[in-house]
Amino acid sequence: MYGKEIKKVLISKDAIAKRVAELGAEISRDFKDESVTLVCTLRGACVFYADLARAIDTDLEMDFISVSSYGAGTSTTGEVKMIKDLSSPIQGKNVIIVEDIIDSGVTLSYLKKLLEAREPKSLKICSLLDKPSRRKVDFKGDYVGFEIENEYVVGYGLDYNQKMRHLPEVCVLSPEVYGG
Ligand code: PRP
Repeated sequence: MYGKEIKKVLISKDAIAKRVAELGAEISRDFKDESVTLVCTLRGACVFYADLARAIDTDLEMDFISVSSYGAGTSTTGEVKMIKDLSSPIQGKNVIIVEDIIDSGVTLSYLKKLLEAREPKSLKICSLLDKPSRRKVDFKGDYVGFEIENEYVVGYGLDYNQKMRHLPEVCVLSPEVYGG
């Protein structure tokens, strides 16, 4: 199905769907009889977010935030820039930040600090992927889909130069594409 720019499929559609259902069930249990504000961090989390939201069985509000730490490059600059803030206040709410990947940890550390200052009732992190070997700052997700090795992954929301986000599976990019 894929061209030579894709080295291999890392996480299949079925494996993703199974794990998303599990995460949704876990969140539903943890927030039984409560309301949750599910925050999508654009753009990488958008596909995971849409699936996860539909796997959660509690009262749910959706909001969107966009920050960027990478610019046009492929590794973090350590600086995070706010591009689009949440549309609604989160004070007193149960907030779950949804991400596609925790890499250096810089983006989520920044986001967590930023949103904690707004005094939510609770604040949790849910990330589809986690690359613990790449951490620059100490950071742990509360709900994590898959721990992965240090490979360049695309698809299911993750991009290479803004492309390939629409691929239905998490794939490993061929090193020749990015010069790795
Ligand atoms: C990616 C990804 C995370 C962040 C993770 O975002 O979506 O937000 O990097 O990396 P970190 O743990 O090293 O901070 P990016 O800034 O590339 O924007 P995108 O979501 O639009 O792809």
